[in-house]
Amino acid sequence: MVELAGELEALEAEARQEISAAADPQALAEVRARFLGRKGSLRGLLRGIGSLPPEERARAGEAANRVKDRIEALVRERREALRREAEARSLAGHRLDVTLPGAGPAPGHLHPLTRLMRDVTRFFHGLGFSVEDGPEVETEYHNFEALNFPPDHPAWDLQDTFFVRGGHVLRTHTSPVQIRVMTGREPPFRFLALGRVYRHDSDPTHSPMFHQVEGFLVDDGVSFADLKGVLFAFARHLFGDDTGVRFRAHYFPFTEPSAEIDFSWRGAWLEVGGCGMIHPNVLRECGLDPERYQGFAFGLGLDRIAMVRHGIPHIGLLFDADQRVLEQL
Ligand code: PHE
Repeated sequence: MVELAGELEALEAEARQEISAAADPQALAEVRARFLGRKGSLRGLLRGIGSLPPEERARAGEAANRVKDRIEALVRERREALRREAEARSLAGHRLDVTLPGAGPAPGHLHPLTRLMRDVTRFFHGLGFSVEDGPEVETEYHNFEALNFPPDHPAWDLQDTFFVRGGHVLRTHTSPVQIRVMTGREPPFRFLALGRVYRHDSDPTHSPMFHQVEGFLVDDGVSFADLKGVLFAFARHLFGDDTGVRFRAHYFPFTEPSAEIDFSWRGAWLEVGGCGMIHPNVLRECGLDPERYQGFAFGLGLDRIAMVRHGIPHIGLLFDADQRVLEQL
């Protein structure tokens, strides 16, 4: 009996050490089986009990059971400790820093041309101009004939114009909107037309599709001075108070006199478009009496203005929808 007590003590000490050394639940289960299982060390020790006298047998059995209970308790404790360790490791691995800035959706913004068109519209709205629209696939009549283009005018040339079947073209300018607005209506007119126009032309500063804003005003007593005043105000609105405006004599079939317009931009002249007094033939074509009414018109390229405003070297960059470029504008 004394001998057995010593062996039980040694077994418990050994078990305690191995249990605390078990690194994971699997190893712990193996340790437990080795000491308490059916072929375990404790069973092995108890096998000798049968040969003891009956009163010692009972005490030996109780002593063995107490050791078994203590080992079971150690295993439970260790299992719980391992579970907590695993949980702590997992939490540390999935740590969430709630103070980090969130990953919100990237905010978009309006295209620089859209912003410019809205800006232009707002400015002219302040001068009493409202906005009119016309089709991009336009009749040859509205794009050319009604605007007093002689049949052999070079603008008809295939170099410039995209012809569409059935007497239609992709409008080469916004001026046909003049015809659509004036026909069948009575002045005064104060209108703006903005949108896409098309010409067979492609290089760093020309795209086959680009944007114009057309402005025209018809009333009695309108002069070239009114046109100058409006364009001066517009140039200053766009580029600042010290912006200069220059008119160079030019020819358009639908205006007389006609001029090309330059705005000064950082010490250089920037060609922005054409203008003039609406030709009597155009007024007549729209059913208006040129003796009674006069008007001016101008057509400006918007893409060029957006390019210098944003320092864009190549017109294609405006239309490529390249996120890396658009984000900078
Ligand atoms: N439509 C002309 C062009 O595109 C510009 C213009 C408009 C000229 C109105 C005079 C008057 O070149």
